[in-house]
Amino acid sequence: MKKSTFILLSCISLCSVELSASVYKGHGLFKNMCLECHGKALEFVINKNTKQWNDLLKDNASALVLIHLKAPEAQKSLEYFKGERFPKHIIHYKDFFSEYASDTGNVPACD
Ligand code: HEC
Repeated sequence: MKKSTFILLSCISLCSVELSASVYKGHGLFKNMCLECHGKALEFVINKNTKQWNDLLKDNASALVLIHLKAPEAQKSLEYFKGERFPKHIIHYKDFFSEYASDTGNVPACD
């Protein structure tokens, strides 16, 4: 009884913060994985609108991976893009990018 109440409560609180947590996570991932080559996150993200980001990230981000495959200076990133972690991270990038894409008018509070 106690245990199920706890699970129910944690589920409710998890669900309500899910969106912003994912946006936050995407921001953090971006800082760790992309910033090294792409400079300030904010400027990079607001460069593209929602549709452009969606196109880059659809089909397991195949377009995004392809850009990096083709760019000689991006070779260092391929281990990540072709590895196991990246497919799981795409959803967070998507949330982060679509929160702050150029057509949303949103501006991240920090960075
Ligand atoms: C090792 C360096 C490196 C890393 C790490 C890296 N990139 Fe790139 N990226 C490049 C290079 C080089 C290009 C191609 C040249 C360019 O357009 O700037 C590129 C191109 C891009 C483009 C297309 C550029 C444009 O303006 O249309 C996007 C979008 C992009 N990267 C997103 C990302 C994201 C998101 C991450 C992190 C998950 C990431 N990159 C990680 C080097 C990197």
